[in-house]
Amino acid sequence: MTFDFRGKTAVVTGGAMGIGEATARKLAAAGASVALLDINERAGAATAAEIAAGGSACRFFACDVSSSSAVESAIKAAIGHFGGVDVLVSNAGIQDYGDVVTTSEEAWDHLMSVNLKGCFLVAKHTVPSMLSRGGGSIVVVGSVQSMAAIGNSVAYVAAKHALLGLVRAMALDYARKGIRVNCVCPGAIDTPMLRWAANLDSNPDGVIDACSRAHAIGRLGKPEEVADAIAYLASPAASFITGAALLVDGGMLVPAGGMSLQEGGTGAAVR
Ligand code: NAI
Repeated sequence: MTFDFRGKTAVVTGGAMGIGEATARKLAAAGASVALLDINERAGAATAAEIAAGGSACRFFACDVSSSSAVESAIKAAIGHFGGVDVLVSNAGIQDYGDVVTTSEEAWDHLMSVNLKGCFLVAKHTVPSMLSRGGGSIVVVGSVQSMAAIGNSVAYVAAKHALLGLVRAMALDYARKGIRVNCVCPGAIDTPMLRWAANLDSNPDGVIDACSRAHAIGRLGKPEEVADAIAYLASPAASFITGAALLVDGGMLVPAGGMSLQEGGTGAAVR
């Protein structure tokens, strides 16, 4: 898919690797100036340098999205450098596992502060610039877990569901002020986060295989496939779309009872 973001500035949080990196590369290749925010300074600086070496305007700003002061100063620096913000991709996120008993209060607070409050903070500090430029577009990276739950993931599921509420609330607040706000909801995407999660198991390949088969399409998603959906929602091609949640999940949430029932249950019956 090709897009034209020439003359636009995009802020991408969690842009050092994974889905954020693919999105930063896609937007830069389409002509956007990209401010790449990440807590990982080494990887963030390296990704931004690679993108800039390809001839695009891309700069890294160290930022922990859960810190109000860090977000404020990083966005201020990005606006100072590029002149304003037109597109925000709120992507930074972390994964954690546990039920309500095994999840510590600290782990709950930490995940919420990165995955949910981080999105609130970056929006808080970028929306004024979008308004002063007559509008913009925000794309939040949710998850299939914005709509459905997996076990032993209370904090992550709760944060991803809440993000969808935040998207809808912001969409309403700014619909008549030129800012569209949408959510992409990926299935299992082959990124460092997914590999980290698989490696928590004694059989990482088995986890990857199970994740692959959980999608109707039968494989993991690629970061670039999510980046395509993000670029679409951020672009004028999606000018009448706001408050939407776009599944990019290879059909993961389609089958009744999950793919295992389709593979081995009544849904797999052949006449
Ligand atoms: P990743 O772990 O591969 O990359 C995440 C990036 O966010 C890293 O560069 C990391 O340094 C950065 N980051 C983490 N905490 C941060 C903080 N406090 N402040 C600033 N940056 C921070 O993760 P991946 O897979 O690319 O995930 C990106 C987003 O997509 C996340 O919100 C995740 O929840 C979501 N997602 C991922 C899926 C997957 O299967 N990989 C599926 C559905 C959603």
